Amino acid sequence: MSFTPIERRTPPRLYRSKLFVPGSQTKFFEKAAAGPADVVCLDLEDAVAPGDKDKARDNIVAALNDVNWGNKLVTVRINGLDTNFCYRDVIALVEKGGERLDAIMVPKVGTGADLYAIDMLITQASSFAGRKKQIGLEVIIESAMGLGNIDEICRASKRLETLHFGAADYAASQGMRTTNIGGGNADYVMLTDTAPDRARERHWNDLWHFPLFRMCQAARAHGIVPIDGPFGDYSDADGFRVQANRTAILGCEGKWAIHPSQVALANEIFTPPEKEVKRAEAILAAMKDSHEKGLGAVSLNGVLIDAASIRQAQVIVQQMKMIQARTA
Ligand code: GLV
Ligand code: MG
Repeated sequence: MSFTPIERRTPPRLYRSKLFVPGSQTKFFEKAAAGPADVVCLDLEDAVAPGDKDKARDNIVAALNDVNWGNKLVTVRINGLDTNFCYRDVIALVEKGGERLDAIMVPKVGTGADLYAIDMLITQASSFAGRKKQIGLEVIIESAMGLGNIDEICRASKRLETLHFGAADYAASQGMRTTNIGGGNADYVMLTDTAPDRARERHWNDLWHFPLFRMCQAARAHGIVPIDGPFGDYSDADGFRVQANRTAILGCEGKWAIHPSQVALANEIFTPPEKEVKRAEAILAAMKDSHEKGLGAVSLNGVLIDAASIRQAQVIVQQMKMIQARTA
């Protein structure tokens, strides 16, 4: 281990599914609050037309105060720093949004200074409003600049809790020749070598691998939780599952649901499989047993268990307890 400890910035929480609800669509608020998503994100940005922004902001402020959000995390995506909606979003949410607001999501962050400026506004408005609970920050990495400055962004504010990957804006920013949001592209392929005895095969590659991997690495290096963003084709459950599985393997703790049907899929993929939970429980039981017997080494079924597998087992068992508590 490094002499520099990495402390997770948030207490253990569930982030498996983050359901987006446009701030202009009040009819969906109660349903989202009562539904199975771990996190609800009320949107003021791309799901709201420019002419509806003020009304949507008022709707969200009212809903933060009036709707029973239960034990969900409740966050709001504000407009970007290049708009004049942005500061009004922050001030209204912090001064009038009540204590139920958990975090503000900032889209299209390009530099650490972007986040620093938002933190400054939140800090001033929180002090003026006499807020008791600290408001967290969530950042969407969705531009070439944001990915390039990712470590600086992670260091820019102590409020920063989660990083999210926005495939659609990221692709646009980098000039990627694709219109898929988070899915595959039939032209991003490799051909196997020519060989006299077999036909050449086309192997699809993952065009999101690098930005997602980099985001997960930067997030974890700073104690921040990485979350995968949208999968655009909500009629393609298999495509969603495969994408979510890959990002779960890379370290993401959850994924956006841009349609309610994607909530169950995200919850399914980001819940540890039963086999893993059973093994984790067995590892912890073996650890307890060998401690009780005063043995130094821990083994399970004849295999030595090291300290890292014990830490992994603790994470899995704790996550499962949170999931059981939520669904009980
Ligand atoms: C999300 O905001 C995206 O751009 O994909
Ligand atoms: Mg975006």
